[in-house]
Amino acid sequence: MDDARRLARALSDPSRRTFFGLTGAALALAFTTNLADPWTSRSKGGDGYPFQLGVASGDPLPDSVILWTRLAVRPLEPLGGMPYGRIKVDWEIAEDRAFTRRAKHGSAWATPEYGHSVHVDVRGLRPGREYFYRFRTGGEISPVGRTKTAPAAGSSPEHLLMAFASCASWQDGFYTAYRHLADENADVVFHLGDYIYEYGIVPTGGNRNTPVPDQFRVQCDTLDRYRVQYGLYKSDPDLQAAHHSAPWIVTWDDHEVLDNWAGPNGAGGEVSPEDFLVIRANAFRAYWENLPMRLSQPASGPDVRIHRRFTFGDLAEFNVLDTRQYRDDQVCGDGQQYDCAERLDPARTMLGAEQEKWLLDGLGASRARWNVLAQQIAMCQLDYDPAPAQRLSMDLWDGYKAAKDRVINGMVERKVSNPVVLTGDIHYNLAGELKTDFDNPSSPTVGVEFVGTSISSGGNGNATTGLPAGGTDPVNPHIRFSSYQRGYVSCDITKARWQADFKVVPYIDKIGAPVSTRGSLVALDGVPGLHAL
Ligand SMILES: [Fe+2]
Repeated sequence: MDDARRLARALSDPSRRTFFGLTGAALALAFTTNLADPWTSRSKGGDGYPFQLGVASGDPLPDSVILWTRLAVRPLEPLGGMPYGRIKVDWEIAEDRAFTRRAKHGSAWATPEYGHSVHVDVRGLRPGREYFYRFRTGGEISPVGRTKTAPAAGSSPEHLLMAFASCASWQDGFYTAYRHLADENADVVFHLGDYIYEYGIVPTGGNRNTPVPDQFRVQCDTLDRYRVQYGLYKSDPDLQAAHHSAPWIVTWDDHEVLDNWAGPNGAGGEVSPEDFLVIRANAFRAYWENLPMRLSQPASGPDVRIHRRFTFGDLAEFNVLDTRQYRDDQVCGDGQQYDCAERLDPARTMLGAEQEKWLLDGLGASRARWNVLAQQIAMCQLDYDPAPAQRLSMDLWDGYKAAKDRVINGMVERKVSNPVVLTGDIHYNLAGELKTDFDNPSSPTVGVEFVGTSISSGGNGNATTGLPAGGTDPVNPHIRFSSYQRGYVSCDITKARWQADFKVVPYIDKIGAPVSTRGSLVALDGVPGLHAL
């Protein structure tokens, strides 16, 4: 059968998998054919359905959100099995899930240069409002996503429901925690990095026991290889449910690129800086293609600015940081070290001079009740040795002591209202108090840090971290809560208090685990420190 006849038959038969078996030119024609206007779908998924990676929204402003999708008929193939041509995608956003009160609509092009991703910057929305959105191409309709705009500038919201997550190694287990996060119906979700892991995947799919094709054996390096890794991750229904539930604000950590990379340096000097910057550029491009981010332009090349700020009226302001791209290399051979004097070097930077100034200037100018650093790595000192000697991680803020002190003391000098640090990276649940001197328990408490555990990285986990912490333990007395179970953190934020509920699941090597609250800690307005419920 020739392409024209195949296409005609596909378009006329609602039970047929429209795009299966068509060549590139016919496939492109199928997607660009503008069918009758009503938003009615003729197929419900499977091979040939172009919205197998779901939809997402993100970076909410008072009048805007970014709407995202990426077309893929076969997500595990390069370019998602799509033709090398541009494809028109219609979108609409409404005030109700049935789309009877449509607010805005339009169309955009999905192009192969950007992996057939679509980023729509919808403007003219109303502040602090719930919306629903979807896409359409070639007569196929996407799933519906829920989103929400930020409150109006200068407004005084009473309440913000925020959840945050990190570290979702696909082969380590199922995304049950994402499924429960979806049920939170949050105003906004923060993802603090390790959205993917760059590692190759074994044929059996690790703890998932799900076959994974040959192209996944090697570690990510080329743009195509990163793209199929996202295709695999984003095919997961629980991850999609979490995206469909709320707008996300994302930042990367190390594994979106390479384990423990630092500025122009790949981990362990395994690749030259020149080669690493090529990998970094590929990783950045694939990350942007797959997430609902508001960038000034499409990610291109090895330098992409993602630190940015979000304000929720006078209630909370979030400074989203990048602690990887501008940092000096880890000292003393990385890992956990004793007596590493180089970690104290005042010339070393974590954020880079520009981002550090941007952060402190923004904190100084903020009028928000809660001032948040949404970032990757632990800021509270973490001594891994239960004996008196200190063993600290060179990859965390402890390995950049002077840079950490500049941020903490900078917040004190600027009298920043209620600092809150949100952290991922180490797969621990921790709640700690930020001190001006972590070695002196009686030094002033400046604010609090909530470290969220992993969604899946590390496998099933267990109740304790092995980190000496909490209670009467003289090591890490500023850490007030810890656990090593998979999950996420749900935060209920009002003017008077910030409550962090550490939500955990008992296992992830099977689907369907229930969720429970392992611990709840509260910070009170104007009283730096933590209170257990
Ligand atoms: Fe991680």
